[in-house]
Amino acid sequence: MALSLGIGLEFSRRFVRQNNKPFIPIHHMEAHALTVRMLEPVSFPFLVLLISGGHSLLAVARGVDDFLLLGHTLDEAPGDSLDKVARRLSLIRHPQCSTLSGGQALELLAKDGDRTKFSFKTPMGQSYDCSFSFAGLRNQINMTIMKKEAEEGIERGSLLSCVNDIAAATQHTVACHLAKRTHRAILFCKANGLLPSVSPTLVLSGGVASNQYIRKVLRIITDATGLCLLSPPAKYCTDNGVMIAWNGVERLREGSGVLPPNAEISYEPKAQLGVDLTAAVKAAAIKLPPVRMKM
Ligand code: KG4
Ligand code: ZN
Repeated sequence: MALSLGIGLEFSRRFVRQNNKPFIPIHHMEAHALTVRMLEPVSFPFLVLLISGGHSLLAVARGVDDFLLLGHTLDEAPGDSLDKVARRLSLIRHPQCSTLSGGQALELLAKDGDRTKFSFKTPMGQSYDCSFSFAGLRNQINMTIMKKEAEEGIERGSLLSCVNDIAAATQHTVACHLAKRTHRAILFCKANGLLPSVSPTLVLSGGVASNQYIRKVLRIITDATGLCLLSPPAKYCTDNGVMIAWNGVERLREGSGVLPPNAEISYEPKAQLGVDLTAAVKAAAIKLPPVRMKM
């Protein structure tokens, strides 16, 4: 990560100097959050759920460079977990999955799976905040895979016969966890007047947001709470250069964080997004009303 950030920074530094252009540093997650505004007229403030291979976070976007952080992952990101589960299932050997990312492979296999064949516990049921956790869930899934390998008498590295069912149960549990934390974030925003009363919006973005099943589960939550759900098409949800360029446009228009071509700049591999409200969210300890995740 540090190596690629260093190469990118060196290239852009040279580029802006040679062309006498301003330098606009971009926060990767800010770019994921704002991409939707390139495609649709979404005004601030709105709630964002950003789920990718490196992050999982809920924030209120109040302006181009003005975010309130409501929750983030305490361990790994959902895309990272999905990639690791896919690797543990050796999906690279599956004829339909060899060219897909872990998340894409699980989504594809889940379509022909029965999620009720396995029951994984949704993480953090007793924490009434908006944090995420995926490491424990991955551990549960790994234990199930080991048990099934023993039952089927196969070695690690071979494909299990129940791989579709495991994919479906994994995807469902990840989706339910994301939905519950998002539901609480919506209720927190409503209780604190953080979203407009007219057309309050949830924006879903990041690589994992290209998952259609996760989108459907989140739509159940936005329908139940009266929010509009917006998500860029898959090609703009996963990492792309256009989202970074758009963030530059937004900052240039606002005159926010626009530096001279010769500015001394360093990169930050882990930079927080916005003002941290996670303690206030935890203190509010909002209990969720039941919502049927009927799919
Ligand atoms: O945002 P992104 O392109 O890169 C990061 O900033 O991390 O996200 C990549 C992640 C990978 O972990 C990949 O498995 C996951 O997004 N992903 C998906 C899907 N497509 C990509 N996860 C679930 N379902 C998908 N359809
Ligand atoms: Zn990303």
